Formats: sequence, structure tokens, C-alpha cells
Amino acid sequence: MTTTTQRPAFGTVLTTHMAVATFQGGAWGDFAIKPVAPLEISPAAHVLHYASTCFEGFKAFRHADGSLHVFRMDMHIQRMRQSARHLVLPEPDPRRLEEMVRAVIGHCRDQVPEAPGALYLRPLLFGTTANIGAAATPSADAMLLVLASPVWDYFAGGMKPLRILVDDVNTRSAAHLGMVKTGGNYAAAMGPTLAARAKYQADQVLFCPGGQVQETGAANFLLLRDGELMTRGLDSTFLHGVTRNSLLTLAREAGYAILEREFDVATMLDWARGGEAALSGTAAVLAGVGTLIHQGREHRVGTGEVGPLTRNLRAQLVAIQNGQAPDRHGWLQRI
Ligand SMILES: Cc1ncc(COP(=O)(O)O)c(C=O)c1O
Repeated sequence: MTTTTQRPAFGTVLTTHMAVATFQGGAWGDFAIKPVAPLEISPAAHVLHYASTCFEGFKAFRHADGSLHVFRMDMHIQRMRQSARHLVLPEPDPRRLEEMVRAVIGHCRDQVPEAPGALYLRPLLFGTTANIGAAATPSADAMLLVLASPVWDYFAGGMKPLRILVDDVNTRSAAHLGMVKTGGNYAAAMGPTLAARAKYQADQVLFCPGGQVQETGAANFLLLRDGELMTRGLDSTFLHGVTRNSLLTLAREAGYAILEREFDVATMLDWARGGEAALSGTAAVLAGVGTLIHQGREHRVGTGEVGPLTRNLRAQLVAIQNGQAPDRHGWLQRI
């Protein structure tokens, strides 16, 4: 008989402490480590009205010897700065933000779960200037937080193949903001995702505006078959996933031809018949797709189960993150 412990859902538990910094008068102040508690901001704060906010999500892993390692922090910090730039928010200084992340992890060291759990890190930046007439004026002031959340095994219930609704009508973001990790993009995906869940029991929506495959509400989309991996090439319309980048690197080294290009729904459905499809992102790493639902028809992907190429690529990346395989690319930063 196996017993399973009921773990809190992803993201619902925070560590005891967070890092906080404010931008005022054109400069960032020193950051402080504070107990996690409600914030005081003006009801006229820019973010509450004009959605001037962006965030990041990445993980720190505990290795078997107890040491802690953050996965590709530099790329996440650069993406956060890019998001801030596009939203005309003050860009966090990369070294300062890294110090904030290190300080939170250091302070909450004993709250980092063992593998397959991890500490999920969530830097968050938002505009705090009190002005409800600032629809076309950026926020002069801002707050930067680094939150952390212990997370446990995403696949504790087993790797279930996903059901994905292919949506060739809606978009998840304005075309120039897809690469920006901002709350509004998730708000835009919410309605279509809930509708797809209710109507088709779909786990996620794959947004394909104009018939061109983009990404889902919270993950990138990859197609795999023997020796080939296809995914949309980087452009402004979707988030440039760090997991995507890492998996492409591993696949290239394993001899896959990497096809980064635009492709349409018909091409995807054709490929999926004999191949594999998967979603990539920090939370799940690589999650296999079993069914694509398009215009009321269900299309089975390969055998309908999570395929061997998906499992293998996922296992390779997880092994690096957990310290069970050598980190040849210097992706882990020890805390
Ligand atoms: C919209 C979207 N696309 C892609 C990703 C995957 O990005 P990453 O691999 O950097 O976590 C995420 C998750 O963070 C996301 O929210």
C-alpha cells in the first residue's frame, strides 16, 4: 500500500520572509528582508488602475548534500528587466535583484523542500504612484518584492497527458506584449481557459491567432518526433521561456534538428498524429499533451499518452536541476 501526503497546491504557501525595495525620486532604495505581511499602498496606486506590473518565476533546488542552487537566475533577471522596460517601469538593477533573491533564500534556507520539491521564487514589480489620471503617464514610483514559495512534486498524481483546446480566434496578449511577463496577459487568457475547461474539460488553451501556433496561457508549446523538435521562433508575441531555451539546448546536443519557425494548426495536427506535443515551463518542466481539441474535433497526439521523447528530455533537465547530472552549461548558481 502506498500512502500519499496531501501537499498544498502550487503557489498557495509562502515562506515566512520576503525582500522589499522601493523606487522613489528616481532611485532605488536599499532592500530589506521583512516578514510576509499585507502591504500598504494607495487605492490610487498606478498598478491598481493601469496594470503597471510584471513578475518572474524560477526555482531553487536542494541537492542531496543539502546545498541550494538556483536555476538560470541570470536569464530570469534579464527577462524581468525586459518586462519592466516594455511597461515603462523602473528596471531593477540586476546585481541588486540577485542579492534580494539570495537574501530571501538565505533567510528561508530551512523552508526549501527536498527534491522533487523546490523553492519557487517570485520577484514582483509594480507602479505605486498615486494618480488615477495617469492612463498615459508611467508610474514614477515602484515597489519590488521577492516572494518565495515552497513547492512539491508537480506530478505527484503521475504524469497525466494533457487535453489542450486549440483556439484560432482569441489572442492571449497584445502582439507586442506577449514577451512581457505581465499580469494582464494572464487575465486575458483566463476567460478562454475557463470556457475551455467547462466545455471540453481542457487543461489549457493553445492560442493560435490567425491560425499560427503561439503558446498556452502559462507555458510554451513544443512538437517532438524522432530527431526533430519544432517550436515557434522567438518574436514579441509570446514569452521567451527559460525552460524552452534549456530544453532546446539539451535536444540540440542530443542530435535533434531544432526547427524554430512559424507553423500553422494544420501542420501541428499533422505532426502530432505520429509525434509528440508538450508544454514547457518552470512549474512542470515538460508536460506531455495527449489530445488536441480543434473546432469540436478531438485529435489524439501519438498514442495519446506522454511519449518517450518528452519523458526523456524532461528527465535530462530535472537531473541537472537536482544535481544528479553534471551542470555542463553553468545553469545552476549555488546560494
Ligand atoms: C505565458 C508563459 N509562457 C511560457 C512560460 C514558460 O516560461 P519559463 O520556462 O521561463 O518558466 C510561462 C511560465 O513562466 C508563461 O507564463
